[in-house]
Amino acid sequence: MKVQLIRKTEVARDILSFELADPTGAALPAFSAGAHIDVMLADGLVRQYSLCNDPRETHRYVLGVLREPSSRGGSTAMHALREGALLDISEPRNHFPLAHDAAHSILLAGGIGVTPILCMAERLAHAGASFELHYCSREPQRAAFRERFDAPHLEPHSRLYFDTAPVHERLDLERVLAMPAADTHLYVCGPAGFIDFVLDATRRFGWRSGSVHREYFGAPAVKAAHDADGPFQVQLASSGRIVEVAATQSIAAALEQAGVAIATSCEQGVCGTCLTRVLAGEPDHRDVYLTDEERAANAQLLPCCSRSKSPLLVLDL
Ligand code: FES
Repeated sequence: MKVQLIRKTEVARDILSFELADPTGAALPAFSAGAHIDVMLADGLVRQYSLCNDPRETHRYVLGVLREPSSRGGSTAMHALREGALLDISEPRNHFPLAHDAAHSILLAGGIGVTPILCMAERLAHAGASFELHYCSREPQRAAFRERFDAPHLEPHSRLYFDTAPVHERLDLERVLAMPAADTHLYVCGPAGFIDFVLDATRRFGWRSGSVHREYFGAPAVKAAHDADGPFQVQLASSGRIVEVAATQSIAAALEQAGVAIATSCEQGVCGTCLTRVLAGEPDHRDVYLTDEERAANAQLLPCCSRSKSPLLVLDL
């Protein structure tokens, strides 16, 4: 669908917010807290950005984008957009939804990972739900959307932390996570290091994995191909056809080369677009999309980045 960039605003150092609206002024498709859209950029780049406005709004989508010079170009292309530009985007999809039966929700954001967390906070606040929000940033100048945390409906629930502050003013994860209750849900979004730090703590304190929800922001460390990667085969269950996957190739790339295109978007194991059922064989999961339980079940994989531990994988294609 087409949208127009109606406002681009600096909301922190290196972070811009982008306000998108229907060019004719029509209402946009509804979204739920935690949802993201795909943005189609020049040269075939597709990037996912979380929506950070109040999910009750239908007149706009608001994104927050950190400029990352070391990234693969998406954030630089976004920052170069001019107000008035027309953009192709997908409808909102949600791989990071709120559990609406939670008695209490803990929202943890690291850096630009605040975008879906802020949307969740809006939703929980307007629903009158019990929640707390912890937002960690390197320094005050890098904390995006700070003024929104001062609003009367969010301020009592929110705490901001800065790496530049004295130790006793930083996030005390032990205090926040030490006593998991069965009906408390935890949501964490941010860079891989931040999420792994939080997930380690949840395991230490005995959180149920079904109560812990995470969304990685940016390229995760686990996706990298190893020098030790070898070739293997995938079989298409529908036809029995075998496709060779070279050591340097992803399953998705090998399939495309063989004329079997599968839908991909992030190509980093983050978004879930390419999720495919596995009927036989043992995947070597390299994504950050599946939960630990889903990985252990080996019933599905993300062929944009994952590989195979067995010589043959049979896919439901
Ligand atoms: Fe995003 Fe595979 S394309 S997980």
